[in-house]
Amino acid sequence: MERRKFIRKTSLASAALGLNAIIRPRAWSSGVSPNGTLNVGLIGCRNMGFGILEHHLSNPGVNCVALCDIDDAVLNNRASDIKKKYNQIPRLFKDFRKLLERKDIDAVIVGTPDHWHCLMTIFALQAGKHVYVEKPMANSIAECNLMVRAGRYYNKLVIQVGQQQRSAPIFRKTVELVSGGSTGKLRKINIWANFEYGAGSQIVPDEPVPPGIDFDMWLGPAPARSFNKSRFHGSWRHFWDYGGGLASDWGVHLLDIGLWVGAISSAPEKVLAYGGNTFHEPRSRETFDSMSVIYPYKDFVIHYDVTGGVQRGPAPWNMPYGLAVIGDNATITVDRNKLTVLPEWDNQAKKDRTAGYSFTEGKESHADHVKNFLACIRDGDKPACPPETGRAAALHVHIPNIAARTGEPVLIWDDSNNRFTNCEAANKLITPVYREPWSLPKY
Ligand SMILES: NC(=O)c1ccc[n+]([C@@H]2O[C@H](COP(=O)([O-])OP(=O)(O)OC[C@H]3O[C@@H](n4cnc5c(N)ncnc54)[C@H](O)[C@@H]3O)[C@@H](O)[C@H]2O)c1
Repeated sequence: MERRKFIRKTSLASAALGLNAIIRPRAWSSGVSPNGTLNVGLIGCRNMGFGILEHHLSNPGVNCVALCDIDDAVLNNRASDIKKKYNQIPRLFKDFRKLLERKDIDAVIVGTPDHWHCLMTIFALQAGKHVYVEKPMANSIAECNLMVRAGRYYNKLVIQVGQQQRSAPIFRKTVELVSGGSTGKLRKINIWANFEYGAGSQIVPDEPVPPGIDFDMWLGPAPARSFNKSRFHGSWRHFWDYGGGLASDWGVHLLDIGLWVGAISSAPEKVLAYGGNTFHEPRSRETFDSMSVIYPYKDFVIHYDVTGGVQRGPAPWNMPYGLAVIGDNATITVDRNKLTVLPEWDNQAKKDRTAGYSFTEGKESHADHVKNFLACIRDGDKPACPPETGRAAALHVHIPNIAARTGEPVLIWDDSNNRFTNCEAANKLITPVYREPWSLPKY
């Protein structure tokens, strides 16, 4: 959507809510020299957040002015990486609220575990910062809703959700081919994710909190719990209070492409789901290592299949993860490396129904997604993955997870009233209970 229409649309949305955007971004936006600098702060530095920061720093005029992490070792190592590689000396913080108080920061990257995404994004918006927030956009339905509303309220600020495949040429090509008729009538989208780590980590005993770690701040709004390495750096994904398991970790990426291909931009109305633990040995996790999910749509169906603890992949195309977009005339198989059009055979005409095709351009899309974020800050455009798109993908994983947790195999979701119409136990899992002093903001 071109810029003027977007601004008009978002302003109308705010007006409809009786709200007005009150914060104006400081730099790099319209009216500021394109040669100006953009100052970035990173919250959550260990893994993905740092990768995203580096993609920012490979663009001219972007500076890292602040790093925040609750772990001294991570913080100091990353500060020294920034000094060595970019000759920049960021200020260091253990409390992200202090980082957000800095007036010299224009944009913030949120690279923490999922249970923090909502609060940090909203606090950053309140402080007038643009936000690049990692996926899944949030760890619950209610938090996703809040972030969409906050995004509309602060409509002059850009929020990019880290579903970077939205900026990948290979997935754009997939959408282009399907909408251009290459597959013929869309019938089915099969999506699968098989990863070793999805079985969960090895079981280890609880231990005292290691020195240099502010564990209370790591837990934040999540319930108080003892320290255990298998629920901490990296492996938190397998615990409901912090993440949604392999199903959500990869699901938001892959289902996002299924939704894009199928032109779906909202929550699913109906989900049939089974989740279970089928790995051969006990592991440290609460989430499911195996899931099968069906999303029925008007005239096609999405099927999502997840298996942790295996990686070669039971998929027929020898791809550990990917999508098969099945139409009357062809199937497109696609992952981050390769797109293939496999034509159907027309038995009467004795020829393929369409031409075969292969595309392998642009394997890495984080860099493009970050460039898109920066361009949107500069030009006031709508980003490739705004909160509405992040919410649609996130609800496509949170709803089946809720189905599997409650043991209710079919859930019916009423998006206008934000509730399940057939399961009260599921309604109880829409909104997380925040631990004091944290509370869900109101928008
Ligand atoms: N887009 C992608 O392809 C992709 C890939 C991997 C991870 N991710 C996402 O990135 C996020 C981080 O994942 P990860 O693998 O880097 O996790 P990680 O556990 O390796 O790193 C998270 C970091 O956040 C820090 N942190 C936690 N609470 C904090 C707080 N209150 N204040 C400051 N720092 C805090 C931790 O100490 C840690 O350094 C997740 O949301 C994940 O889903 C996205």
